[in-house]
Amino acid sequence: MKYLIKANNNYQTQTNCMVVMLRPMKNLGLQLKELNILTGKSIDRLQKTGELSANKGELISLSLPEGVNAQKILFVGVGNQKKLSTEDIRDLLDAVAKKLTADKVNEACFLLDALAAKSDLGTVSRHLIEALGDGQYHYLKQPKADGAKKPPKPGKWTIICDDNTQKSIARKGAAIGLAINNGKTLAKNLGNMPGNVCTPTYLANQAKKLGKSHKLKVKILNEKEMEALGMGSLLSVSRGSRQPAKLIVMQYQGAKDSKQAPHALVGKGLTFDAGGISLKPGAKMDEMKYDMCGSASVFGTMLAAAELKLPINIVAVIPSSENLPDGIATKPGDVVTSMSGKTIEVLNTDAEGRLILCDALTYTKRFKPQTVIDIATLTGAVIVALGHQTAGLMGNDQAVVDDILAAGETSLDFAWQLPLKKTYTKQLHSDYADLANIGGPTAGSITAGCFLSEFTEDFRWAHLDIAGTAWGGKTGKRATGRAVPILTQYMIDRC
Ligand code: BES
Ligand code: MN
Ligand code: ZN
Repeated sequence: MKYLIKANNNYQTQTNCMVVMLRPMKNLGLQLKELNILTGKSIDRLQKTGELSANKGELISLSLPEGVNAQKILFVGVGNQKKLSTEDIRDLLDAVAKKLTADKVNEACFLLDALAAKSDLGTVSRHLIEALGDGQYHYLKQPKADGAKKPPKPGKWTIICDDNTQKSIARKGAAIGLAINNGKTLAKNLGNMPGNVCTPTYLANQAKKLGKSHKLKVKILNEKEMEALGMGSLLSVSRGSRQPAKLIVMQYQGAKDSKQAPHALVGKGLTFDAGGISLKPGAKMDEMKYDMCGSASVFGTMLAAAELKLPINIVAVIPSSENLPDGIATKPGDVVTSMSGKTIEVLNTDAEGRLILCDALTYTKRFKPQTVIDIATLTGAVIVALGHQTAGLMGNDQAVVDDILAAGETSLDFAWQLPLKKTYTKQLHSDYADLANIGGPTAGSITAGCFLSEFTEDFRWAHLDIAGTAWGGKTGKRATGRAVPILTQYMIDRC
């Protein structure tokens, strides 16, 4: 995707489509007054005939308008501008992007003034770029499923501003939008990929590739090396799989002081979750290829951080494995020893995410991180609680949790805190080990968080459960690219 930001519009930019945000007011504002006159009072006429009320969400196109150099004008009603929240703005921009994709328009210019009231033009530009990215996203490997033979050409977009001050505000926002979009696209591609392609080894190679293109330090640990470190919990998940597990480490060094303590991201990279011996039911099991979306969002965030040249250090740790049944697979009742020394009774082999994450979290200690966030498609229960809209959030440090909540609000990639109280930890009692890996039928997302908290006592830590947000919802049977926006915003806010 390419974009340009221009100041001092004279409406003579040659374009396929001029997208004009419009509010239902007699007083059009300077920019639109001029457009109205140039186009032979087209806005007046459309309003008089009742075709254009400019109520929120209304889309009206005008073909071959006079006076401008555009093939068509798309008027977008914004309703009462003063009442528009950033979320409303994003909804509008998503609708515009959808319409442009449906009309096969991949070059347009945008007059966004009418949207920028409570939110500044930077915020609007950022969400425009992200909305266009979502609207135009196309999973390359399955062109037929999307009803087109060839992927659409990458879009070319122009944001038109009143003056140079607005231009620099828009430019900053759009740059963030583009970096997040590129990160999301990578995360979506990985999440949509079938499990026979996207294996732990594939993810490891992906890390090497990202390391080369974006100057990251990359280290891949194989099963032997993990065994030497005592990662008995992680390896117990991989036992039933022919694909070797990998522990992927990527380091982005953006801080002036290369020794500055990094922020750590630990992403669940379970490339296919059949449940193991505690086999999942068949319905929708195919979707368990997206059980590596925690790691996909970490890949995307590393890409975005590098593109934005953020002046901080970030370390990514990705435990990657399959979870399959087999003659030598881990069985319910087996007791394994984690890298921390704590023993775990595996009562359900389908609660495997926490088993690979706990060893990755223990490993992360060696980087002496300022903060640690793990991101995982960890529980079905979080979808019951929060749907596909909001991620579940827990942590052992309220300031870190609050920072993540704030990043969610800014990026519109929402999270909601669940109570990580000691009383839930009791549900993880085991008669045979320090901990059981499941906590019974109630509070499933919280007991999963409690399990992880047993391995994070030495640092400031939070856990994002993205089982709902990483997949489905508005996008249908597709990966969404979340949690790239919230994580990237969290890192931006640390600069
Ligand atoms: N990967 C799943 C969680 C999941 C479920 C993600 C649905 C996306 C959609 C995880 O490994 C799992 O199986 N969790 C179990 C835990 C249970 C056995 C305690 C679950 O949520 O059912
Ligand atoms: Mn599972
Ligand atoms: Zn899983």
